[in-house]
Amino acid sequence: MPAVTLQIEWNITMSDTSNPLKVGIAGLGTVGVGVIKILRDHADLLSQRVGRSIEVCAVSARSKGRDRGVDLTGFTWCDDATELASIGEVDIVVELIGGSDGPALALARETLKTGKSFITANKALIAVHGKELATLAEENNASLRFEAAVAGGIPILKSLAEGLAGNDVSGLYGILNGTCNYILTRMEREGLAFADVLADAQRLGYAEADPTFDIDGIDTAHKTAILAAIAFGMAPDMDSMPIEGIRNIAPVDIDYAQELGYRIKLLGLARRTADGVETRVIPAMVPLSASLANVMDATNAVVVDGDFSGPTVYVGAGAGEGPTASSVVADIIDVARGNVYPAFGVPAASLQNLPALPADKHSGTYYIRLRVNDQPGVMADITAALARESVSIESLIQRGTAPDEGVYIVMTTHQTVESSALSILKHFTALECVLETPTLIRIETF
Ligand code: HSE
Repeated sequence: MPAVTLQIEWNITMSDTSNPLKVGIAGLGTVGVGVIKILRDHADLLSQRVGRSIEVCAVSARSKGRDRGVDLTGFTWCDDATELASIGEVDIVVELIGGSDGPALALARETLKTGKSFITANKALIAVHGKELATLAEENNASLRFEAAVAGGIPILKSLAEGLAGNDVSGLYGILNGTCNYILTRMEREGLAFADVLADAQRLGYAEADPTFDIDGIDTAHKTAILAAIAFGMAPDMDSMPIEGIRNIAPVDIDYAQELGYRIKLLGLARRTADGVETRVIPAMVPLSASLANVMDATNAVVVDGDFSGPTVYVGAGAGEGPTASSVVADIIDVARGNVYPAFGVPAASLQNLPALPADKHSGTYYIRLRVNDQPGVMADITAALARESVSIESLIQRGTAPDEGVYIVMTTHQTVESSALSILKHFTALECVLETPTLIRIETF
């Protein structure tokens, strides 16, 4: 038998490896400082792995004088972040400013136009302008990388674009916001109301002073749009995504969820369906046996369904200095190794504008809680409304009294389309016996 010769061609072009790779960093908050520390503390390790040393040479931040606990002497200081793009010795710009537009976008455009690689942890920027920036990167033979933008220290984008590249991904589901998961965990463990845990989380520095993006699901939506783009080869699409946060989750719903065998989690979901791509951010009841149900505190997790791989699960810290900086540095290493591949795993020109499944066409099961007068005929009114919309009840609980006035009726439905579930809610709201706006929470069994 003739010998088989395997010729391995490394996809690594370490151009000019005799010189250090020079990095400019815009934004010296927690993550920026973390990047400086990794590059400093692991200098030898990284140089060995990459074949050349990696050095920070320029930085930009709002306040020059602040003590950040790292030595900035020797770095060129830029008051205006966009200056980093035009500093000759800078090979890579790392953007840690944040925001979908403004200085972050200006810096991204300037950097890529000059043919330098651009690395960011900014999910809003990529979710909103990802296709434009990926195109600009390709036109200028530069790399655009954003591993740290989704799930902090979990290398989920690399896993999707490289490790699972042989699969057709049918869906992915994740807990992508540590603040929300932390709040839901404490609400459950301590029986506290949402507002009380949020106030405490802000006091302890877990939640931002303005936590809107986190608790209203926008941060999760940015991350979901990026994951869907890589998984399905589509342009990031924020416009067609229904987004709901956790403000309206009440302790009583957390208790009922447990009684029914579920736990409430804020999820980002992306699925291919026969009628279009479905992306959503929702607080959902997930079975206690599901891997995502057991991800607690500020931890993030993502499940990806590949057709050949089967489900794979990724769990880790979704935020913080070390984890987020770890992902930024992984991107720097990729660029240093010359791993230039399309930002979303396919050339920007072939990113598709896939049709979105309209939100009311979603098919699922639902939890509905009503507070009603405890009197004869109430159940008849409720079941009449259900019959009108052909929605079938899977389970029904009524017991004791509600804390103030009336009694809670809690039901879960069999599979139904979202438009029917929402119509039911309208019928219930209109009933005289219903004392407050009903609560609807989707059930996700994956
Ligand atoms: N604010 C995010 C969270 C971390 O709470 O998970 C950064 O994406």
